[in-house]
Amino acid sequence: MRVVVIGTGYVGLVTGACLSDFGLFVTCVDIDAEKIALLKRGEIPIYEPGLKEIVEKNQKSKRLFFEVKGEKSISEANVVFLAVGTPSRDDGSAEMKYVFSAVETFSKNHKSYQVLVTKSTVPVGTGKKIEDYLSKYHSKDTFAVASNPEFLREGCAVSDFMNPDRIVIGCDDPKGLKVLLDLYEPMRKANAPIITTNRTSAELIKYASNAFLSVKISFINEMARLAEKCGADVSKIAEGMGMDKRIGKAFLLPGPGYGGSCFPKDTKALLSTANEYNCKLKVVEAAVEANEDQVNFVVEKILSNLSEKKEEAKVALLGLAFKGGTDDVRESPALKVARRLLKVGCEIKAYDPEASVNAIKEVENLVICNSAKECAEGCDVLVIATEWNEFKTLDLKEIKGVMKNAVIVDLRNLLDPFHAKEIGFKYDCIGKRI
Ligand code: UDX
Repeated sequence: MRVVVIGTGYVGLVTGACLSDFGLFVTCVDIDAEKIALLKRGEIPIYEPGLKEIVEKNQKSKRLFFEVKGEKSISEANVVFLAVGTPSRDDGSAEMKYVFSAVETFSKNHKSYQVLVTKSTVPVGTGKKIEDYLSKYHSKDTFAVASNPEFLREGCAVSDFMNPDRIVIGCDDPKGLKVLLDLYEPMRKANAPIITTNRTSAELIKYASNAFLSVKISFINEMARLAEKCGADVSKIAEGMGMDKRIGKAFLLPGPGYGGSCFPKDTKALLSTANEYNCKLKVVEAAVEANEDQVNFVVEKILSNLSEKKEEAKVALLGLAFKGGTDDVRESPALKVARRLLKVGCEIKAYDPEASVNAIKEVENLVICNSAKECAEGCDVLVIATEWNEFKTLDLKEIKGVMKNAVIVDLRNLLDPFHAKEIGFKYDCIGKRI
């Protein structure tokens, strides 16, 4: 089985590397020549635990290759995955020009029977559009267009790929379905559940999953707001709800709102698709709105914890990535908070173990520090915005010693409130009165 993956971002690179680890011959193709040169040297352009090791291993075993144009590889492949970006347009719909440019490349190099698979999240109906385009140039019995969405979380994408909750294959062509089932046979043997369905359902499963998870987060964030008002504890609420198997424990952590490259973009793209079909998705709409409100809520919380002139306050911001374990700052709530505080006039010192370089490109007025202690020095408030493990074990005595005012606003409920208070901090967090 020969495979080509077009696009070497998070999704493409992880997919290509992991498939080669399952014994397939994989060529990853990207128009970015610099990126390909880097990958050929075994350097990984993104921070993703475990990825470097499997890329190196499979390059050495001559099962994983990187190419800029990849024409020959595409023409010889049994399966071609599309893993290029689909960024949000201003109206919330997905930008499809990269997908269609990759489809064009596929079309130009297509010879014998091949399966073209959308891996990155594409709007419902994209498979049909691709099929209609290819049918103009090629006989319909020489190709199949399938949907095989990814469910990888950044920071644990390799283990998510290797141990998936499910593999979804949507293909309306029985021959194409057979090829994809053969491709995933090693993973099925390793106990990965496979669900097969029609292409449109597969496309929608991806959006429905991300939208549902976004709803879960917005729901618990709203419960947190109510809990603070009425004197309940959101952590206990989440625990009590999560013990019900029908609800489940995951994705009930309150915080500054969801961010990242998927949830904000995919919820809006789903609303845009629903709009096209004249179908109102009130629950998803509310989740998006609640997520936007959550940033207002946490900014107000930080400001209300500042005793002196708010416009002159010095804020220590711990965490810039959209979540712990990644250098990704796309739609990061930490940066949204930073922008809002800068607008008020606050000075912001910031520290993140991995994401500072990316963050400073987005918000230039941040004063970047090399440690949590350096960040806290002379500040009026310490804000924890990203759930990095190293923030859980901060030396609070040392931090208090260097701050101007001993105030912590913990937007991820990471610290032990009683320990923080014992040390002498004024401590505030999400969804409980301390
Ligand atoms: C997500 C999906 O989980 C994945 O299946 C999909 O393929 C891509 O999008 P990712 O964006 O890497 O993955 O991050 P995820 O771990 O899901 O977190 C998304 C956001 O939700 C983060 O900002 C995170 O901090 C937030 N979150 C998550 C919460 O606020 N509370 C939670 O309980 C869980």
